[in-house]
Amino acid sequence: MKIVTVHATTSYCVCIGKGLLQQAGKEIKKIIQPCKVAILSDDNVAPLYADIVCQSLQQEGFSTCVYAFPAGEASKRIHTLSNILEYLAQEEITRQDLIIALGGGVVGDMAGFSAAIYQRGVRFVQIPTTFLAAIDSSVGGKTAIDLEAGKNLAGAFYQPQLVLCDTDVISSLPKDIFSDGIAEAIKYGVLGNRDLFAQLQTGDFMEQLEDIIESCVSMKRDIVQEDEFDNGKRQLLNLGHTFGHAIEHCSHFKISHGHAVAIGMHWIARAAEHKGIAKPGTAKQIAEALRKNHLPLETEYAPAQIASGALLDKKRRGDNISFVFPLEIGNCIIQKVPISEVPALADLAALAVKE
Ligand code: GLY
Repeated sequence: MKIVTVHATTSYCVCIGKGLLQQAGKEIKKIIQPCKVAILSDDNVAPLYADIVCQSLQQEGFSTCVYAFPAGEASKRIHTLSNILEYLAQEEITRQDLIIALGGGVVGDMAGFSAAIYQRGVRFVQIPTTFLAAIDSSVGGKTAIDLEAGKNLAGAFYQPQLVLCDTDVISSLPKDIFSDGIAEAIKYGVLGNRDLFAQLQTGDFMEQLEDIIESCVSMKRDIVQEDEFDNGKRQLLNLGHTFGHAIEHCSHFKISHGHAVAIGMHWIARAAEHKGIAKPGTAKQIAEALRKNHLPLETEYAPAQIASGALLDKKRRGDNISFVFPLEIGNCIIQKVPISEVPALADLAALAVKE
């Protein structure tokens, strides 16, 4: 098992290894005395894994209850939050108890935000069951719900007490869901780890999955420790996300987050090359890595639609919006772009680069 320690408002370990679902009770008991545990999950994940986690907790003296809501981004809304809070109250969960997020990013966000506000804060543990959630949303304490006006517009920074990434679960994901995580891992490579990028570019890295998760989580840990509340460096993690979120939004979330980020990364790399910011060939390298992992590079939506979607982004501050531009593989910068220039940026992003 690999352990990455995060020192943020709360200090906690991210454990990465095989069989951690079965070990959940033992690992949690190292830091939390037996209490009542509310496992929050969705109706895809709970039938597969909730019993294993419950048994493991019960063996260590915890009592458990499980609440599963419908899987998918459509659940990341205020009505689900309200149902979860009522459920926690019915189950008489108190601040001495524990909430577990068992699932992907939506579950992590819903459980984390519920834990942040129920009784003004209950301890929570993340058990991400997707590659994407393991290397991104389960670490760093961002929790949020979507509003009509856009994604992640209401939420809280609230760190977990522990994160358990079971690589048996992650490596058995359906290909499409696993590849969402690959896009996010490629993002870390482009941001600051050329070796990781090269490893992912081969498209053949399952044997090194534990190391790859450790590399991504360590990079995220370093960034979060420097800028927990997202006022500067943490915005680097949004590489590919501004156009990516716009693509998700245009598709009414039929295009998954990882696939949208893949396209967003390719688009912003092309724009960076056309603007003379990125080293020539950067977009091609990113395209090759994405292609090798069967990730998309293009979208059916027009640049003007993507630009309108990008302007809904929460990274918009007044008349500017921050974009992350690659300079080359392993090095990126954050630059403010006036909103009046976003349509032209999207036009550039859609243009092919010279090969
Ligand atoms: N997912 C981006 C962040 O945690 O800041």
